[in-house]
Amino acid sequence: MPPRAAGRTMASPHRCVQEAPMRTVAPSPTPTTPASSEAGAGFSWAEAAAALDGLPGGGLNIAHEALDRHAAGPGAGRVALRWLGRDGTRVDLTYAELTDRAARFAGLLQELGVQRGERVFALAGRIPELYVAALGTLRHGAVFCPLFSAFGPEPVRVRLQRGDARVLVTTRELHERKVADLVDGLSGLRHVLLAEDLPARLAAATPAPMAATEPDDPALLHFTSGTTGTPKGALHAHRAVVAHHATSALALDLHEDDVFWCTADPGWVTGTSYGIIGPLTRGVTVVVDEAEFDADRWYATLARERVNVWYTAPTAIRMLMRAGEEARGDHDLGALRLTASVGEPLAADAVRWGRRVLGHEIHDTWWQTETGAIMVANLPGDPVRPGAMGRPFPGIEAALARRDAEGHVVRDAFGRPELVEAAGEPGELLLRAGWPSMFCEYVGEPARTSACFAGDWYLSGDLARRDEDGWYWFLGRGDDVIKTAGHLVGPFEIESVLCEHAAVVEAAAIGIPDPIAGQVVIAKVVPAPGHADTAELRRELRAFARRRLGPAIAPRRIDVVDTLPRTRSGKIMRRLVRAQELGLPEGDVSTVEATR
Ligand code: WT7
Repeated sequence: MPPRAAGRTMASPHRCVQEAPMRTVAPSPTPTTPASSEAGAGFSWAEAAAALDGLPGGGLNIAHEALDRHAAGPGAGRVALRWLGRDGTRVDLTYAELTDRAARFAGLLQELGVQRGERVFALAGRIPELYVAALGTLRHGAVFCPLFSAFGPEPVRVRLQRGDARVLVTTRELHERKVADLVDGLSGLRHVLLAEDLPARLAAATPAPMAATEPDDPALLHFTSGTTGTPKGALHAHRAVVAHHATSALALDLHEDDVFWCTADPGWVTGTSYGIIGPLTRGVTVVVDEAEFDADRWYATLARERVNVWYTAPTAIRMLMRAGEEARGDHDLGALRLTASVGEPLAADAVRWGRRVLGHEIHDTWWQTETGAIMVANLPGDPVRPGAMGRPFPGIEAALARRDAEGHVVRDAFGRPELVEAAGEPGELLLRAGWPSMFCEYVGEPARTSACFAGDWYLSGDLARRDEDGWYWFLGRGDDVIKTAGHLVGPFEIESVLCEHAAVVEAAAIGIPDPIAGQVVIAKVVPAPGHADTAELRRELRAFARRRLGPAIAPRRIDVVDTLPRTRSGKIMRRLVRAQELGLPEGDVSTVEATR
């Protein structure tokens, strides 16, 4: 495939145009750390792009690279998807079979009149139909947008609306519980496809050819949470597959005939980038387990399926650690050669636990919804530094920016960030904009999009430091966004729902440390006049939050308080709420309202 400029501006409204404020100024001349890994020697994004097929005439489609490329060759009969049902059912789909189903799903979208660039949402657990829908949507040239099935009706509604959903693929049960009551309010939603009906509908559909998409055409929409306002819909283009493929090769070491298991749910970006796309582009067998975490089941799966490479998260690793080394039992993990982690900091003790129990140190990787693919990693072949996120992936340039007392990146007169040069000094982690899987925009929110860039750098919002050898160490998130069990939760989304309860006038949601989930959400609410702090009210609020938000993000605890600290400009100071909750020093409180 001919290499393309990642950020060129296109005229079509369906194109994933990068509003690139970062391209208006010259690159920062200051020193940064390019990747210096052996594994990535000689790497370039142009060559990474050339390693893919592409479509005739310079086009690119993720589904072609993930499926058709293998289905057209000797890999056709290889198992693409090995689905392990909760009840022990096992379904194997070969590359040829999955390609055929995706083509039929694309044909179904065609029959329904779904246009290229329109959005097809999925709200389902890890069922085979979800994977067919994802790849069929991409094949059709529509945009796939997965939602986490444990979201309650409110987060589902907000995302369907913000994302202008045209089609929703879900199950009968989830439809009844979460969607049926919302549909009337969503005028753009034309079709709800139930997974239970799909086999018959696919059997009747005509397989559709591959849409002639271009690298910059939109492909994937993932919602992520910010501190304030509605969730942000991060849009990615087909060109992201260049990064999915390259990182799957070099960071996850995936090769044809490998068996790969990514434990993430496709409701989150890890579950699509590495639960579907990246590994399929490498021609591996992707194991999908429908069930939730269970230590015995997981060890048994690793052993029985002869998993070679495993991608999981610190929450899961901590649960395994808690189950004790004896939980591993006699399971033969001899096939497992690499375990990698993402989503939260992986402490050094967990890395070393891997050596004892899995047979190797766990490789941490760092990235975000916006980056679309792994950006910083302990690459296989490099020595692992326990506790470090790793070094920038080949082709990725990282740096750290100085922040002022209010947590804003310090910029020069041209808007360029002031970079931290000394080893060991903290700063906000930056990435030089323009890698293939960089998000194009937050849909419909140009101001929030441009707030992510300074000069030609993307601002991650995470604080980190770099050691003398170029390894990056995670220090914390630079904002109020809560990370629980590997998933970002926006405090504002929780607070807005709580405030809809008649007994609540204001609310603050914060994350507090938890040994398993990293953080858990708790909330403090100020009662409306006439409501007092009773056990009954707290119970009622917890139930209300669970009903509206779903168990995944509802606060684990809700306290009723007299006041919440606010800044003079009226913002709730969640940092202070958290400090008070944890009995920590309150830090800089100079902007707190005098009357608190
Ligand atoms: C945030 C991004 C990673 C893709 C799925 C989550 C945190 C991610 C690490 C790590 C410490 C990490 C950061 C980041 N995070 N990886 N290795 N060590 N923190 O994507 O939901 O957009 O979350 O996850 O805070 O900003 P996301």
